[in-house]
This record gives sequence, structure tokens and C-alpha cells, in this order.
Amino acid sequence: MDTTTPHALYAQRRARLAAQLGPGGMAILPTAPEQQRNRDSDFLFRPDSYFYYLTGFTEPNAWLVITAEGDSTLFCQPKDLEREIWDGIRLGPEAAPQVLGVQAAHPTTELDQHLPKLMENRSAIWYPFATHKGLDTRINQWLAPVRARARFGALCPEQQRDLCGPLDEMRLIKDAHEQDTMRRAAQISARAHIRAMQRSATMLRAGQDVREYHLDAELLHEFRQYGSQYPAYGSIVAAGANACVLHYRADNAPIRDGELVLIDAGCELDGYASDITRTFPANGKFSGPQRVLYDLVLASQDAAVAATKAGARFTDPHEATVKVLTQGMLDLGLLDKNQVGTLEDAIHHRHYFAHYMHRTGHWLGMDVHDCGSYVEPSELGQVSERKDPLSGETIKDRPSRILRPGMALTIEPGLYVRPSEGVPREFWNIGIRIEDDAIVTETGCELISRGVPVNADEIEALMRG
Ligand code: GLY
Ligand code: MN
Ligand code: MN
Repeated sequence: MDTTTPHALYAQRRARLAAQLGPGGMAILPTAPEQQRNRDSDFLFRPDSYFYYLTGFTEPNAWLVITAEGDSTLFCQPKDLEREIWDGIRLGPEAAPQVLGVQAAHPTTELDQHLPKLMENRSAIWYPFATHKGLDTRINQWLAPVRARARFGALCPEQQRDLCGPLDEMRLIKDAHEQDTMRRAAQISARAHIRAMQRSATMLRAGQDVREYHLDAELLHEFRQYGSQYPAYGSIVAAGANACVLHYRADNAPIRDGELVLIDAGCELDGYASDITRTFPANGKFSGPQRVLYDLVLASQDAAVAATKAGARFTDPHEATVKVLTQGMLDLGLLDKNQVGTLEDAIHHRHYFAHYMHRTGHWLGMDVHDCGSYVEPSELGQVSERKDPLSGETIKDRPSRILRPGMALTIEPGLYVRPSEGVPREFWNIGIRIEDDAIVTETGCELISRGVPVNADEIEALMRG
């Protein structure tokens, strides 16, 4: 359990949610299911992000019920000496109200007994749609006995509503405690990147056989050394041409002198993700063509950072990136001006997609690709249609989200040059991404992941050291 958070914070979040359930509303939220990996062996348990956000409770087999009047009931594993000898101490329903600040607690084994009673005379039942397998069936099973009691005067809830809506909006704006945790997560990840860069150069200088997994091991060492529970997602350590595979995982490919290494890795700390990418020369010194492309990606990131501020749109950093990258592609011959035309043409027809095919960022928080709508809620009805220049499909655009202080997002431009006729050979197989984590402020954004440098000279300096 996270012992660093005052439980009053979770109670405040539950109260804020309760106030959005409408008269007579009630919310039901399970934590994540345990997942078997293979015989007798489970994946490491991670609580559901929504559930953790409202409770700070990390045991499996737990449920939370919140009423519009502000009462919270926790269902958790009962005390059981034999199970606790095997699996660890359980909080138990007797201690839960005192420790977690909920009004009532019962054993999870009594869910079927309590839930129909709790649902009786409620107007609406809120639960997260399409996130927990079988949850809707379970809820309907509890509704059936409520309906059966109609002849005794019981009212059955008439509405089922998606709990993700209000919770996503709450989680989109990070409070001071969340921002602090995210800063600490990003600092740990930054140290891990530095450690991996230095190990690469040291091993190569010593003439050793360097593999992607060696650098993966350095990342994990640093994450755990500083208290992170686990990586926030599968670490990417991609040597040379592997960097052009967007979802590559750290594997066993050799890291060779003269190649670039792309590492996309971030730790999770107390439920919050960090997400950093650095691309560096394996031996500590960029070659000429590598440096040219690297500086272009960095310039495009600078433009995106400048566009990240309160009042701007979520898409503004992406558009700023695309402009700089596409101009660079034209200047360096990655795109043929005679074929693609002007900068505006190349952007309009998405020719840059040949070398830059992903978005420049995503929300970041408890989940690495965090929840929160990318559409501005106040402008939901403003729809415009256009034809996608590559697929020919009709796309409905709605106004992009307006950035507000406390929103957290990544800024991660890249360039991925696969071998292709018409593209200068010196750039072939170079893949570069630079990814930082930003918290939006009134006047701009705070980059919380710059504990690891991005400037090429600074990277070379730290790899010499
Ligand atoms: N590491 C996942 C991402 O960058 O989106
Ligand atoms: Mn990312
Ligand atoms: Mn990433």
C-alpha cells in the first residue's frame, strides 16, 4: 500500500465523484482482476487505476461502492490466517474504515448479499463501461433481485451510466500530489537512461559484447534502486535499424560501435507512469548523418514544447512538430521536392508520414497512455468532415482539447528512415525519437523528465564521463 499519501486525499476524490452522480446515484467499481501467467504462477498484481485513484488500496479482490450522498463501502478480502501465510497480510473489513476512511466495509465474499440491497431505490448505477470483463453481467445479476422486490415497494434503478466519464475528467487534471509523484517517477527514469547510456559506452570501450538486454538490465536496476515498483510499460531498447520498429522490445540484438540506440523506458512509481525516450550513439559519439537527423528531431521537439501551454490545443504541439520535421525532410532530401511539392503540400497530403507516422504525444498519468478525452468537451457538437489523403477514408474532426494547467502529456517527435530508393543512403536505418514528459502550466509547460539531457553535445559529454 502507498504509505506516502494522506488518506484524506482519496476521501476528497470520492466526495468529488459522489457530487457528480446525481440525486440517488450510486457507483460500483472493482479493482483489476488477478491474471494467471501460467500454471501456479500469476502476473504481478497491479490494482485498477480508477480504483487506486479513489482508495489507495492495493489488494486484489476488492470493490468500492460510492453513493451520491457521499458514503463509501469497501468490499475486501476477509482476514484468513492460512491465506495470509501464503499470500501476505490482508487489511480485512474490520480495519478498513479506520485505515481507508470508508464508511463501511464487508468481505468480498458477501458482495452478492449486499449489492442488491445497496442498489434498491437508487436512480442510476454508474460503473466503468467496457473495462472489466463481465462487469455488466454481474451488475444485471444484482439488479434482478431488486426488480423482484418491486411488489414490496422497492424501486429498481432505471439508468446505467458510464463511470469512466466523470473519472476520466478528474484524472485528466493532476493535483499537487499527483504532480509530485510524477516528477519523482520521471527523475528516477532520467537516472536510468543516463545509466544505460554510460554502460553502453563503457562496455564498447572495453571491447565487450553489448546486447540490448544489458541496457535493459541497467534500466531495471535504477528503477528498483529508487523505489519504483515496476516499469510503466515494456521497455524498448532498440539497436540500429531496430529503432525503426515502433513497438520493438528490448531483445538480444548486438549493440554495435557506430550505431544509434533508441531507449523508450519509464518507471511506474506509486501508481504513476513516466515515459522517456532518448536516442544516443552506442559509442558516445554521433556520426555526421546521425547528428543532422538528431538535431532536426530536437528542433521539432523544441517547437512542440513552445506550443504546449494553457489555452493551446492538444494538437498544436503535433502540428508544430510536423512543420519542422517536414521542412527538414525536404531540406535533407528525405522527401523529393519535385514529387511532393511545397511544405504545405507535403503536410496537406501527409507525405511526411513516410518517416514520421505517429502522434507527437498522449496524456500521461496513472496509465502511460492515460485516460481523458482528446476532444474539447465544450465543443463536442462542432463536427467537420474531411477525406484522409492516404487512406481516402472520411474522417470526422471535432475540436481538439484545450490544454489547461495540471494536464500532463508526452512530447515525443521522431524520425524513422527505412531503406528506400530516393532517400540518401547515409540516413538509411536511422531511427530517432526524443520523448519528454510535460505538465501544462499557465504560461507554458514544465518538462519533468529533463534529468537526462537531450542536447547532443551534452549526451556525448555524459557518455565520455
Ligand atoms: N512508451 C509508449 C509511448 O511512448 O507511447
Ligand atoms: Mn509516449
Ligand atoms: Mn515512450
